[in-house]
Amino acid sequence: AALDHINTFRISASADRYMKITDESELVKLHNQGLFAESFFVLGGGSNVLFTKNYNGLIVHMAIIGKQHFIEGNYVYVTAAGGEVWNDLVWYCIAHQFPGLENMALIPGSVGASPVQNIGAYGVELMDVFYSCRAFDTVTGEYVTFNKEACGFSYRDSIFKTEYKGRYIITSVTYKLHLNAAKNTSYGAIKSELELRAISNPTIRDIAEVVSHIRVEKLPDPSMIGNAGSFFKNPIISASAFDMLMQKFPNAVYYNLPNQEYKIAAGWLIEQCGWKGRQIGQVLIWPKQALVITNAGDATGSEIYAVSEDIIQDVASKFDISLEREVNIL
Ligand code: EPU
Repeated sequence: AALDHINTFRISASADRYMKITDESELVKLHNQGLFAESFFVLGGGSNVLFTKNYNGLIVHMAIIGKQHFIEGNYVYVTAAGGEVWNDLVWYCIAHQFPGLENMALIPGSVGASPVQNIGAYGVELMDVFYSCRAFDTVTGEYVTFNKEACGFSYRDSIFKTEYKGRYIITSVTYKLHLNAAKNTSYGAIKSELELRAISNPTIRDIAEVVSHIRVEKLPDPSMIGNAGSFFKNPIISASAFDMLMQKFPNAVYYNLPNQEYKIAAGWLIEQCGWKGRQIGQVLIWPKQALVITNAGDATGSEIYAVSEDIIQDVASKFDISLEREVNIL
């Protein structure tokens, strides 16, 4: 089965077997057929994966849809099936005037993938609004519910990427939103765009529009040019490593974290190594945001991977910081 149209990097690759799942019961059937005992990989929107070769196994494409909500006091619980497009859910909430997701407008990918890497943007992370998710256990063949604590969220990370990597398939997610939640416009780029538009008291729709505008300006549209958003995570370093960095590079871009750690802007590190806008064959480092690697034509996954290796090495030798990939490599 060809995978070209279900990965936003638009890498030409194929899998031995491919199954599109539109109903929860189909996962139970696959389990009963013993298919989860062999190698399989679960795909949502295909926006966070790089195929470096053909996949020897089963690709499970999650396409269950549906959205609903119920209001209880000051809260609304919004439940969406895993195959829903994340940005559609954001706009569903805006249409109903449910605040909380607007800063995460236009993040590519599906609802089912949203907890896996605790997606986030412009000062808000998924864990801020997450209530629970329903997931299929491919080991026992049963459905289970994870509450927020059980997911072990941290920056771009959850238990679904670590301890339980490859075990659970998320089929729906429930978000708990406070109906009078304060709006988050702390991020510099949001502030200045609101000022430009002379909006002093933004609605959640204003914020979603501003965020979408900023993203469109800065990030490549996956429907135009293959990419998977940020290719690397922003590295987190200790206070002593941070002191050394600042001595040599006082202009480094960073964010303070609790517990004396620092998050360094990977885009800045990569740019300083001369990679921004550079093209190697059909692999183009995005000229407006060096954290994004793009497929400018018919690059292969292994070519993109090779460039990412070179970037990691350059950043390590210049800054003594090791970058970690955010994208799944297959
Ligand atoms: N910067 C540079 N050069 C670059 C890129 C960035 O110097 O080429 C510096 C700039 O100073 C800039 C700062 O880094 O102000 C931060 O850049 P940006 O606002 O673009 O955010 P980011 O930290 O690079 C993260 C997320 C993005 C998310 C933005 C906005 C990660 C790995 N990435 O990027 O998420 O949209 O913040 O909140 O945390 C994604 O995950 O696919 C993604 C796009």
